[in-house]
Amino acid sequence: MHRLKLKKLLTSVLTAVSLMCYGQSNNAVEQQIENLLSQMTLQEKIGQMNQLNTAGLTDDMKGQIRSGKVGSILNELDVQTINELQRIAVKESRLKIPLIIARDVIHGFKTIFPIPLGQAASWNPKVVENGARVASLEATASGIRWTFAPMIDVTRDPRWGRIAESCGEDPYLTSVMGEAMIKGFQGDNLNSPSSMAACAKHFAAYGATESGKDYNTTWVPEVQLREVYLPPFEKAAKAGVATFMCSFNDINGVPSSGNRFLNKQILRNEWKYDGMLVSDWGSIEQMIPHGFCTDLKEAAEKAVLAGVDMDMMGYAYINHLEELVHSGKVNEKLLDESVRNILRLKFRLGLFNNPYTKERTQMPYYLAESLQKAKDAAIESVVLLKNNHSVLPLNSSVKSVAVIGPLSDSQADQLGTWCFDAEPEHCITPLMAIRETYGKQVQVIAEKGLTYSRDKSEKGIEKAVAAAQKADVVLLFAGEEAVLSGEARSRADISLPGKQAELVAALKKTGKPLVMVVMAGRPLTIPKETELADAVLYAFHGGTMAGPALADLIFGKAVPSGKLPVTLPRMVGQIPIYYAHKNTGRPASNITLIDDIEVGAKQTSLGFTSYHLDAGDTPLFPFGYGLSYSTFNYSDVKLSSAVISKGETLTVSCNVTNTGNYDASEVVQLYIRDKVGSLIRPVKELKGFEKIFIKANETHTVTFHITLNDLAYWQADMVKRPETGEFAVWIAPDSQSGKEADFKYQ
Ligand code: NOJ
Repeated sequence: MHRLKLKKLLTSVLTAVSLMCYGQSNNAVEQQIENLLSQMTLQEKIGQMNQLNTAGLTDDMKGQIRSGKVGSILNELDVQTINELQRIAVKESRLKIPLIIARDVIHGFKTIFPIPLGQAASWNPKVVENGARVASLEATASGIRWTFAPMIDVTRDPRWGRIAESCGEDPYLTSVMGEAMIKGFQGDNLNSPSSMAACAKHFAAYGATESGKDYNTTWVPEVQLREVYLPPFEKAAKAGVATFMCSFNDINGVPSSGNRFLNKQILRNEWKYDGMLVSDWGSIEQMIPHGFCTDLKEAAEKAVLAGVDMDMMGYAYINHLEELVHSGKVNEKLLDESVRNILRLKFRLGLFNNPYTKERTQMPYYLAESLQKAKDAAIESVVLLKNNHSVLPLNSSVKSVAVIGPLSDSQADQLGTWCFDAEPEHCITPLMAIRETYGKQVQVIAEKGLTYSRDKSEKGIEKAVAAAQKADVVLLFAGEEAVLSGEARSRADISLPGKQAELVAALKKTGKPLVMVVMAGRPLTIPKETELADAVLYAFHGGTMAGPALADLIFGKAVPSGKLPVTLPRMVGQIPIYYAHKNTGRPASNITLIDDIEVGAKQTSLGFTSYHLDAGDTPLFPFGYGLSYSTFNYSDVKLSSAVISKGETLTVSCNVTNTGNYDASEVVQLYIRDKVGSLIRPVKELKGFEKIFIKANETHTVTFHITLNDLAYWQADMVKRPETGEFAVWIAPDSQSGKEADFKYQ
């Protein structure tokens, strides 16, 4: 009795202390967690581990919250409803624990930034951070304090629709961009009402899905898992990401939601992560169709034993954990661990101090500065792939443009995937922007040609051709509708859908300069179209301000500076194709393509090296590639030493001169190769990059520091360390160019 009173007193003192300070010290929070935990019944613990989709203010939902059966709600957007749900939680439930309100805010809430793959093409972490910050400002005003982003699944398969949500094929670029998003979402202090908890997802190897089909099996040897798929997650954990989410896939036969190796051994033991791990939607329950569990009870058992803290819409925990604990199959201590992680998140978000969302008459949506940031991001996300005879930017002799194509004026499609809350009517399309900003300078002749990207009717093509004939330049906006990428939107054929290839061919025949802008959620296979077009801008889905961004790029008010975050294949059969591949024992050489093989050629006449007869050995465009209206010259690569030893850092520098006529930004990239390894190393690995603005005729010296950690890799004994020997280094404008310099680690 006496002890109990003392405990209560201590608790109230601690709560008061915590209420007084804005940034609570960890110890104070941990003690509050322990205090709460000690008062919780088994059912209340399980309730915290249960996440439900919103049902509004139904009696059932109110009752569940009141009786402590819900820890988090997702997808509620009405501020008054959210406040009422919170009021019930903190006033009417026994322990007064607030809820966390979650939502997928992926690349914007109202003001939409480019899809993450597009943002990654900016190679500018600041742009990415800004996007997440704007999203946070807008979404938190609607009561959302937890977003399920960033998605940091490395993927080398453009058939996979979720490549749109990813930062592409490279672990290093993904790590940097993921960290920037986390910073933007979480702000300087997670307990500020305008900060959202971020979520590193999907843990792990979801992007390795077989054949690019969503939710599909993955087979990933541990070395590859640690080398390619895990680094962005480790970086996110270190950057303080508040939560992690399991992936849907199985890895080597074990679904992520039941994967102790991933969720316990790596996440908790190796990385010492103390944030919260949520399942994906129903992913605990889905261990049944996976063939990993017989029923929901077994699924709950396997997930909780694997350290999954919260069950998102699976009803496995709420329905079965109590019984599992009572039968001795699950130790209650495991639940305590999960509840600690959940309560810690609620404390970190400041929800115990203020669970409510301010009810405003004026929402901070589409603020001028947010739209400007979205436009800047959209500009930086566009990659110039081709620009024959400097067609772009359009010069003053161009008096009329034909604006053509299914993506030229489609507000919803330019938003891309995963923007539930965006209002397409706020989007400015290329046609709208060109008319509005450049309509006085040029005559604008608009004719879509195809009404949507999959349109198979050729009826409009004739009209488009007629429009093109009347214009000085043809601006064709081709690509994919938003609905063709994203979750469960995999494609086996990733060429331009519908009759777009025919449209390109018909426009080419007019003889007019043809500028093709591709707006898509993934790399598309567009070798023919690229050949036919005089200039190609790859714009991904650029969001609310894609139109003004593209108009400024086309008319030269802005200069392209994006670089590909992913390899563009020539054809699907090349997939997976990525720059950091291994060399093989017979690297491609003396390539003879299929049409060059003589009829009756002998089996031995073609040589024996590694390439496709019909695709050769190169992609359409490599990782890191992107042109500018200006030109850059790389010279004087200097190494601080030809040798690096333990404890040392190697400095590598290079002069980059803007040799063109435009002040412009360039992404300077650092690659290395470990020439000989006890496990074979990739032919190149990105280890650093810097986006720099250089005025015409000026030179900047770019310096990188290479440490032994950059040379280290996961070896067969699962230890990451560098091996002595020779290394190559490149400072280059993309993954395929640049002069090699060598050094040794000894
Ligand atoms: C399923 C998706 O895989 C995940 O990324 C998303 O956050 C959840 N659904 C919640 O909507």
